[in-house]
Formats: sequence, C-alpha cells, structure tokens
Amino acid sequence: MKGIILAGGLGTRLYPATVPVPKCLLPIYDRPMIFFPLSTLLQANVRDILIITTRRDREAFMRLLGDGSDLGIRISYAVQDVPRGIADAFLIGEEFIGGDDVILILGDNIFHSRTIESSLKESIADNEGATVFGIDVPDPERFGVIDFDENFNVISIEEKPAVPKSNTAAVGLYIYDGNVSEHAKTLKPSPRGELEITDLNNIYLRDGKLKARQLDGDSVWFDAGTHESLLSASVFVYNIEQAGGKISCPEKIALEKGYITPDKLKEIVCDKKSSYYVRIRCECGIR
Ligand code: DAU
Repeated sequence: MKGIILAGGLGTRLYPATVPVPKCLLPIYDRPMIFFPLSTLLQANVRDILIITTRRDREAFMRLLGDGSDLGIRISYAVQDVPRGIADAFLIGEEFIGGDDVILILGDNIFHSRTIESSLKESIADNEGATVFGIDVPDPERFGVIDFDENFNVISIEEKPAVPKSNTAAVGLYIYDGNVSEHAKTLKPSPRGELEITDLNNIYLRDGKLKARQLDGDSVWFDAGTHESLLSASVFVYNIEQAGGKISCPEKIALEKGYITPDKLKEIVCDKKSSYYVRIRCECGIR
C-alpha cells in the first residue's frame, strides 16, 4: 500500500499567512499541519509516502521531513506546477504508485478518533476498487456529498451540490486500487477547471466498485483550509492534549509501531528544547 499526501495549491483562502509559508506547514497548535495527515497514514501502516507540493514549497517540506528515515519510513516528493485538481495526484504519482493500492489524504485534513486506526486497516483490507469516508456535517453543500443505503452501498456522490441528498460529507481521505491512474487519465476538467476527485469516484461507482464508510460518532475532522477551521483545529488539539497524551505525533507513532528504536527517537528529540519534543520525550520514557 502506497500513500500520497496532496499538499499543493496556493492556500489563497489563508492569505496573507500563506504568502511566505505553504498552508500545510502552518502550525496546528505546536507542530506543522502536515504532521496530522502524515500521522494518519502511519496509523494505517503506510510507510511509502509521496508528498505532492508546489515547486516553490518542495524544499520547505524536504527540510522538515527529509527522506523519512528518521521515522523509519520512505518519503519522496513530486511537484504539481498548476493546481489542476485533486485527481491530478494520480497522474503525477503514477510511477510512484506503480499499480499498487494507494491511499490519498489531503494535506489540510485533520482526523482524530479512537477507532481511526482499526477503521483504516479494515477498509484497506476490504477495499475492492475505491473507498470513501463520510462524516455528517451541518453544511454538506461545501463538500463532496455521499448518499448511501443502510448497507453503506453508495447511491450517489456529488461535488458541492446546491441541494445535498444527505448530510454526509466525503472527507479528504480515499483508498484506491491499482487502476486509479488509468481511470484518472480518462477524466475531463470540470466547469471550475479541475480534475475532480468526485468524478473519479463516480467512475468507480459506475463500475459497482465504490464503498463508503461512515467515520465513527466520536470522530473529529477538520478541513483546516480557512482561518476559522485552522484556529478550531489548534484549540481542539491543545485541549485534548491538556487532558491527556499527545495525539498525531509521527515520531511517537513510529516508535509505537516499531519503525524506529528508542535510541533513534532519543537521537531525534534529545537536543530539542521545544515543548513538543519535551512532551514526546516524557511520554515515550526517553531520558
Ligand atoms: O476536504 C474534503 C473535500 O475536499 C471533499 O469533500 C471534496 O469532495 C473535495 O473536492 C475537496 O474539496 P475542496 O474544495 O475543499 O478542495 P480544495 O480545492 O480546497 O483542495 C483541498 C486540498 O488539496 C488543499 O489543501 C489544496 C490541495 N490541492 C487542491 C487542488 C485542487 C492541491 O494540492 N492541488 C490541487 O490541484
């Protein structure tokens, strides 16, 4: 299973904050936003990851994450010169995917749930074409909207419909089989000029190969693409970590999964004085 984090785009809804810094490197509380989608992929046991960025921002992401060896994973990078749409990730990433199954996560999507790890592993095992994930929201017209029956068979999936058929938004997390790049090649740009992820999902739906999974009731999801959601996500992470342990820390997950040894973690965190690393050190018993 391969993983792609789509972290391109200009982040115009977050100007002027994103003029010098790409959106996915803006902080959510005490760490760059991309740590959250990266953690989600690690929780799904994905260790071979492609990060797609703008040409301008690639170096900044590389400075932060390098080749992934500090986390016991492999990270490679690709450039999207023009924001041609989310499904463009499968054209840019065709060689990287190499016909394997792939999980795509949007770089500004933040998930937290006690069950996300087991839910992702089950979905990966059960995937027979494509799998989308839904969560109920009060404003579905802002998202892809999934309508499905009581057995989670998808009836329709529509991009930002004026009259939504359900309250279930498709979150920015998708699993595909090895045919995804071939299907993406058949897509035409939408009226807004993008290769739409929803059009790709509709190809799988027509073939009877699209599954939907509802994220559990305790799940929290942020699409941190606006100033308000960015702030809400930071406050949420701060509050939850005040009450308990740190969440979505790639270093901690890498240790728990056995991708790195305690000695390697010690090497990463020992000379760093920021509270993020100090807490990881304490929680992982590193002296
Ligand atoms: O967040 C979930 C929603 O994401 C889904 O419900 C929608 O079906 C899906 O189309 C998408 O909607 P958005 O309008 O929120 O997508 P947006 O254009 O904001 O792009 C999401 C992220 O992907 C954003 O961080 C930038 C990145 N991106 C987007 C495009 C179009 C790229 O890196 N390259 C692109 O070409």
